[in-house]
Amino acid sequence: MRKIYDALYRWYAKEGRSDLPWRNTDDPYRIYLSEVMLQQTQVKTVLERYYFPFLKRFPTLQALADAPLNEVLKMWEGLGYYTRAKNLHRCAQLSAPELPKTYEALLALPGIGKNTAAAICAFAYRQKRAVMEANVRRVLCRIYALDDPSEKVLIEKAHKLLDATDPFTYNQAMMDLGALVCQPKEARCDVCAFAPICRATELNCYDFPVKKKRKVPLRHTNIVVQKYRDKFHLKQREGRFLHGLWGFVQSEKVVGKRIGSVTHQYTHFKLEADIWLHEVSNKLEHMFTLQEIEKLALSTVDKKIVTLLRAEGAV
Ligand code: ADE
Repeated sequence: MRKIYDALYRWYAKEGRSDLPWRNTDDPYRIYLSEVMLQQTQVKTVLERYYFPFLKRFPTLQALADAPLNEVLKMWEGLGYYTRAKNLHRCAQLSAPELPKTYEALLALPGIGKNTAAAICAFAYRQKRAVMEANVRRVLCRIYALDDPSEKVLIEKAHKLLDATDPFTYNQAMMDLGALVCQPKEARCDVCAFAPICRATELNCYDFPVKKKRKVPLRHTNIVVQKYRDKFHLKQREGRFLHGLWGFVQSEKVVGKRIGSVTHQYTHFKLEADIWLHEVSNKLEHMFTLQEIEKLALSTVDKKIVTLLRAEGAV
């Protein structure tokens, strides 16, 4: 295996993304933050829009713990999956000034699953843990010709393959290999360090893991934006979904004028909403101008509605 690891590191040194900021720090907080942001968001988006502004506002775990949740949500705005931000904040409050140093203690914190715990251990503490994300999963499935492995089997295989002498470089390189070489539609086995031991290369078949087709339901709704003078009515959400974010209000009954529609793809459904503008003759509670609304933490759908209101000249 030594030869394979060396080939992997040679490739990583030349072609890998070793300049990513969270790969050039051993601050557990910065690594943890990057892992949480990267859970459902692409590297490019995290890098260009979210990672640095978040750290500027909350430079340490303690600063995050001391901040009100609303401000954390505001910095998270547009990234989606807001439970991630709430858990991040709760973890900071539970563990500031420092994150725990063991896998088990990390796992016990809210929102830290096996993969995030493994990543913090491997990257911040250089412990022998194998990191799993979608790209690594595909690489492992191909190397071992696995159609649909359980999480347990995958983690076993990942630890079998791990270079225990350098878990940091090994894990970072594996992610990049998945992103840049062993790609979903193209496996570039000619440049892959694992080609000599890879079952998929041997079989000349790359359909591992087997793809499952998933159909997400379409949900339709109406959102009635209540307007009084230059102000609009919003409510702060209380249920589990998008909890804590401000938003315009859904309504069974439609009133006013239809000004357009917005769509948004969530993980489990696609939302299509018709937007209605209704001018009311009395001030309601929680009314804000568009400038004030832009300072609140909003979901992506609500931001799209703000854009629609601006286009409509509603102000
Ligand atoms: N996704 C999850 N962790 C990552 C990392 N350290 N670098 C790039 N992408 C990632």
